Amino acid sequence: MRLAVVGGGSTYTPELIDGFARLRDELPVTEIALIDPDKSRLEVVAGVARRMLAHAGHPARIVATSSVEEGVAGARAVLFQLRVGGQAAREVDETLPLRCGCVGQETTGAGGLAKALRTVPVVLEIADVVRREAPDAWIVDFTNPVGIVTRALLDAGHRAIGLCNVAIGFQRRFAATLGVEPSRVSLGHVGLNHLSWERAVFLDGRDVLPSLLAGHAEEIAADLGLRPGLLRRLGSVPSYYLRYFYAHDAVVAEQRAKPSRAAEVAAMERRLLAMYADPAVVTKPELLSERGGAFYSEAAVALIASLLGDRGDIQVVNVRNGGTLPFLDPEAVIEVPATVTASGAAPLPVTPVEPLYAGLIAHVSAYETLALGAALHGGADRVRDALLAHPLVGQDAVAQELTGLLLKADRGHLPWA
Ligand code: G6P
Ligand code: MN
Repeated sequence: MRLAVVGGGSTYTPELIDGFARLRDELPVTEIALIDPDKSRLEVVAGVARRMLAHAGHPARIVATSSVEEGVAGARAVLFQLRVGGQAAREVDETLPLRCGCVGQETTGAGGLAKALRTVPVVLEIADVVRREAPDAWIVDFTNPVGIVTRALLDAGHRAIGLCNVAIGFQRRFAATLGVEPSRVSLGHVGLNHLSWERAVFLDGRDVLPSLLAGHAEEIAADLGLRPGLLRRLGSVPSYYLRYFYAHDAVVAEQRAKPSRAAEVAAMERRLLAMYADPAVVTKPELLSERGGAFYSEAAVALIASLLGDRGDIQVVNVRNGGTLPFLDPEAVIEVPATVTASGAAPLPVTPVEPLYAGLIAHVSAYETLALGAALHGGADRVRDALLAHPLVGQDAVAQELTGLLLKADRGHLPWA
């Protein structure tokens, strides 16, 4: 069975290969096509991927190609993990908004909008090739901003599901705190991609979140950079992306005082690529664990195994809302637990969402609709509308200034700008 990875030259790829090797019983892959336009990087990453599989005694073959057609042909699932403009464009997303007093983040706020503008057209083009060359394949999208990109794929009629590691990260973390196997823990996860809350943590089906918060609010809050009292009051655990909302001004001050995450990651990537090029390296380097993608291979393997194997288990994914959150457009994409079978992911019913969360979810979801419109049709007016609709921008003068700055900085990636 062939899997294809678009953006296969990513320094994250060994994470994925490590997952395929460890979880081979779940997902018997025989061929992994790594697709990337950057040939020299692809060669290095494909090299370490081959050595890792050989070292693990895994029989799968690695195909390295810059041709999407060739790579996706006959694949049963295609993972999208590309980054248009690389870390250089991310650096702009993370620094430019700071000039206007707004958070600099690659998926949240103005930076996330810039990333969506660059990314959606490229993803849709690649997805069209998948539809031609591998019409039965599932597209699993890790490409950020996952909510907007997944909505674009679904609107264009693709067989796509969006995936993020935030939920699986919480599941593993709570399991460790409880001292139990992760398979016994499931989440009452609700919201949008990178705008989610855990309203329940089920251990063998029983909600243990109240006792988790009673005993561990301090340490959980410290990891998220939030106040323990906030978690106790909410009675839920917000994802760390909520810090950009709940502590916006503090984050802006911090970001202004240190190098961007893009610069940090670029330095890490240089070191990682040097390791990958070393023939003695046959396992995933420890350094990779300093990236944000922990457990992303587990999440990918589980999702693909359930889609291809019709397992019908429950996983947190990005899917069409339908009627799940009645205060949102049915066409919106939400991030919730869903039953995953060969026909896709069907969201489970969600207990009514409190106004404290529903307001923000609705606000950001409306922004996402406008952001997608801007990515599909271009135009400074649409970009400004999306910024005006974003709760972390909102002011006309700021939206106006950021529109000018972002479009100028990203001109090379936006044919219409
Ligand atoms: C988490 C998020 C991803 C994001 C990543 C960034 O894993 O879920 O969507 O891409 O963090 O990690 P990085 O190491 O690139 O900062
Ligand atoms: Mn994510």
